Amino acid sequence: MNNLESILTENRVFQPNPEFAAHARIGSLDAYNALVAEAQNDYEGFWARQAREFLTWDTPFTTILDDSNAPHYRWFTDGKLNASVNCIDRHLPAKAQKVAIIAEADDGSVREITYQQLHDEVAKLANGIKSLGVTKGDRVIIYMPMIPEASIAMLACARIGAIHSVVFGGFSAEALRDRINDTGARLVITADGGMRGGRTVPLKSAVDKALEAGCASVEKVVVFERLGNAALNAGTDVAWSALIADKSTTCDPEMVEAEHPLFLLYTSGSTGKPKGVQHATGGFLVNAALTNAWVFDLNDDDVYWCTADVGWITGHSYVTYGPLALGVTQVMFEGIPSYPDGGRFWQMIERHKVSVFYTAPTAIRALMKLGDDVPAKSDLSSLRLLGTVGEPINPEAWMWYHRVIGSERCPIADTWWQTETGAHMIAPLPGAIATKPGSCTRPLPGIIADIVDDEGNPVGHNQGGNLVIKKPWPSMIRTIWGDDARFQRSYFPEKLKGYYLAGDSARRDDDGYFWIMGRIDDVLNVSGHRLGTMEIESALVAHPLVAEAAVVGKPHDIKGESIVAFVVCKGDRPEGDAADAMVKTLRDWVAEQIGPIAKPDDIRFGDNLPKTRSGKIMRRLLRGIAIGELPQGDVSTLENPAILEQLLGK
Ligand code: WTA
Repeated sequence: MNNLESILTENRVFQPNPEFAAHARIGSLDAYNALVAEAQNDYEGFWARQAREFLTWDTPFTTILDDSNAPHYRWFTDGKLNASVNCIDRHLPAKAQKVAIIAEADDGSVREITYQQLHDEVAKLANGIKSLGVTKGDRVIIYMPMIPEASIAMLACARIGAIHSVVFGGFSAEALRDRINDTGARLVITADGGMRGGRTVPLKSAVDKALEAGCASVEKVVVFERLGNAALNAGTDVAWSALIADKSTTCDPEMVEAEHPLFLLYTSGSTGKPKGVQHATGGFLVNAALTNAWVFDLNDDDVYWCTADVGWITGHSYVTYGPLALGVTQVMFEGIPSYPDGGRFWQMIERHKVSVFYTAPTAIRALMKLGDDVPAKSDLSSLRLLGTVGEPINPEAWMWYHRVIGSERCPIADTWWQTETGAHMIAPLPGAIATKPGSCTRPLPGIIADIVDDEGNPVGHNQGGNLVIKKPWPSMIRTIWGDDARFQRSYFPEKLKGYYLAGDSARRDDDGYFWIMGRIDDVLNVSGHRLGTMEIESALVAHPLVAEAAVVGKPHDIKGESIVAFVVCKGDRPEGDAADAMVKTLRDWVAEQIGPIAKPDDIRFGDNLPKTRSGKIMRRLLRGIAIGELPQGDVSTLENPAILEQLLGK
């Protein structure tokens, strides 16, 4: 049974664990309903209350929602605050000695950083980048391994009002260059390298390559000495240690307007060019803090661990900003779940007594394959709550997580959200909402989610449709950096009555539970990473030997989806050894153009691609061929039917 079939027939229900609920921040369905009602009765008042409760404002706001330039909604506009103050200073001196980050490196060595130390390191780096001329509103690219210095760099930018844009360390020099140029960044903060699975990740050399290829806006590069072998370029490069050596541990925070951009984060859409999603300081922090409190129920004595990389939105909301805003202790991990062996996650949970653990279905599926006796070797009794994110979780993986990792005791929060939403939108409040394997359950209080047809009309229960959010919320995307028109077109298409279009299809069952079915656009979800098919196609056709390419996804039992590329080469169609060689060339090429995560798993060569008479590539057919099926449906509009057999490899 594939995932879609199994979530359509799933009917198990797990009531909240009463022991958990007794201590939870929101401990009953009544409490959840009361919050939902509060938001319904006084929407703005509800959000104002949350913003005051969860954040510390330097200048309190008096305006709540400004919709005068919708859909560019603005929140708390006359309020001022600083994100680093909310994540650090306000916990001092009370939590000066409390551990903020337990950092476990790839090789297993552990460093602990207290809130006071975090404060001092952030202040020194903030003073350092200020001394390089970076000021409020400047863009800074961060290209770092998963080490505390990544969060320190983000918070240092926030401290002085600079706008950071983190680029995932797995992206190539080419992808990095595109992002640098789109943001017009003056500064890049990187490391000489990182360690993952015993291998070095050459970050600095990728920065060098990007800059050589042309990044006119970049003036300086700060290099953290992770490996201790940084080769610095005279003129541009500055060693992190040298930069902070003489800097003060005091840095007056720049109090910014709530709408001041906190960061840009690039994500894939349905065209070749990634979108720079812009988030605002105040609104983003409200939902980041609130969801960590409500959905993860984080408290002072928790040890929290989110395994996401800071290069993705999950790392922004659930590694750097959210947990620190609540002042909790968190684990940060540089490495990968399979190194040195597949028990790494579970050993780390035991070692650090992790109580709240948040990871992706793809990791759960991969670890599940290794068998129950791997986690059984570790003491997982510290766990009290489990979370998942990034893609639909199949009920089988959910049940394994529940049974083997959570000992049937820990609630599971399947959290649906996106880069654009900034924080969880649909997820169970663990003390209040019963869960169903494969469903992200019900919208959070204050989030008005619905499922509608292409004209914006609600569809009936159990019918698929477009997932939309009907009212603006504080942490929503403000715009696509430099492209308001694309923002409006992508997320607020005219016919949808002003609703936010998520780009996912979903259905809602008779209990009002949401079941996410997948993307409606040409975006793939490979191991929880968002990749645009057009992005991969553009990379492929940029190769001198490629004439045409089409990319589709196919179901994969660990990655969720895998990438299949159909390629037409210039000259003869490669066969046999020539085809094998070409496959390798193109996979390496895509890794160089985008990053290893975008490498097609399967590349098929054809003399042509299936097209309509007007020349449009018929992706529907390619999706069938990718899973080995000759199309059953209507192929009468196809110009060249014989091509299907060839692409099928028969
Ligand atoms: C998918 C990641 C099902 C969805 C936070 C969404 C999910 C896209 C879930 C956003 C979930 C995320 N269940 N699907 N719990 N969470 N998705 O921007 O297709 O990297 O649109 O944000 O991931 O991916 P993004």
